[in-house]
Amino acid sequence: MSRIVIVSNRTPGKGPAAGGLAVALRKVLSRHEGFWFGWSGKLTETPDSKPRMEDVDGLKVAQIDLSPQDHHAYYAGFSNSILWPSFHLRLDLATIESYWYEGYRRVNAQFAKALKPLLRPDDVIWVHDYHLIPLASELRALGAKNRIGFYLHIPFPTADALYAIPHHGELMRDLSRYDLIGFQANRDVAAFTDFAEHQAPSTFGISNTEAVDFSDTEVAAFPIGSDPEAFARLATSPAAKKMIHRMHRALGEQELVLGVDRLDYSKGLPQRVEAYEKLLANNQRFRRKVHLLQVAPPSRDTIKEYQETSDTLDAICGRVMGRFAEPDWAPLTYVKRTYGQPSLAGLYRLARVALVTPLRDGMNLVAHEYVGAQDPENPGVLILSRFAGAAEIFPDALLVNPFDTDETAEALRVALDMPLEERKTRWQALNRAATAHNVDDWALAFLERLSPGIAEAGGGATDVIYMASVA
Ligand code: F6P
Repeated sequence: MSRIVIVSNRTPGKGPAAGGLAVALRKVLSRHEGFWFGWSGKLTETPDSKPRMEDVDGLKVAQIDLSPQDHHAYYAGFSNSILWPSFHLRLDLATIESYWYEGYRRVNAQFAKALKPLLRPDDVIWVHDYHLIPLASELRALGAKNRIGFYLHIPFPTADALYAIPHHGELMRDLSRYDLIGFQANRDVAAFTDFAEHQAPSTFGISNTEAVDFSDTEVAAFPIGSDPEAFARLATSPAAKKMIHRMHRALGEQELVLGVDRLDYSKGLPQRVEAYEKLLANNQRFRRKVHLLQVAPPSRDTIKEYQETSDTLDAICGRVMGRFAEPDWAPLTYVKRTYGQPSLAGLYRLARVALVTPLRDGMNLVAHEYVGAQDPENPGVLILSRFAGAAEIFPDALLVNPFDTDETAEALRVALDMPLEERKTRWQALNRAATAHNVDDWALAFLERLSPGIAEAGGGATDVIYMASVA
């Protein structure tokens, strides 16, 4: 039976999984023979090129260390200062240092060199995310003939943004070495297809004349989801109830408006707080009646643009506090730390409104998790950016343009005034959609397309406790 080999930058650690990727794929490997391969999280001046195989809570995980210089160029540099901003259409926030690309390729080559000796000819390899676009090329150069699939967790850029990325020609050629490329949304498939079909031969490709041939690569949307049933259970767990109790004491009669995001400029946090400010400015009746809680764990904080986003958010939250707070009332709480998943599920359950308003996002699992955690008899309202992949799944949310803070402020008013019957009708539709796009089916659909028959070949399902993510 074919094994499944999952490759990603981060590998799952012991204890509860923190990221959406780890959560989803842990399940796959609990059901199929195989292992997970990636970076150990350790930096050392002289990394061993041979991977260490470890047992992590019943999962086989092979890991390599990286040197600090390579890791910086590959992760903070090319991946997160060039690819991340460009793929999120924030070219103004991209920083280009040419040596980062060499580090990015070097790390991908190290991954391939360490992984290749572990592979059997019929292993099916599933590579994740923008850190590892060149991995199939590097593996093929070492002789790997396996089926290799690639899944992009972030949006695919428009052609203009792609042209702005140094070495985009090589990267597209690297993508053509995969048998299957999966995207989050139809929007991404359309952007990719548009690029592949209209690539300009004179400026594209290594020889400058030759367009990349994608005829051997299948491309499709596989929208990722969560596990709404597990979220429903988590939201009534003792830890969630404890959080709800704690919040009830603090909030009294006030309605909770909730945001939960990594502190990332793509999440539209300053615009969100500004929309809330407009709600309070335009509707005096909501003062003392609502409270915004923004949970924003810091992320990639060695990168200047992330530090600046954090400073901007500090300033805007301070401004709103200064404008509306009274000695006995605060309009908002802004928490820069991570919460345990059951506590988050409790917050989701309590929140009358979830503000999920990224400026651009691959999917956004917080939207899925919020839906899963609602009380069917008294559900809250999801306000969702139309630029999140989740907008294709959740047309029954209140869809907003996050750049238009007047529109988001009005959506907040509508959400807070929404009668119970409409909340229920909308939530039922959202919950059906979240269930139809659950994470198990997502993984099986991708693997089945990559290697037909592999899904049925898996053994009996082992129950893995699903934990939430702040992706
Ligand atoms: O959204 C893309 C993603 O890579 C997620 O898979 C992950 O949870 C998140 O960003 C965090 O990224 P990092 O590994 O840089 O902390």
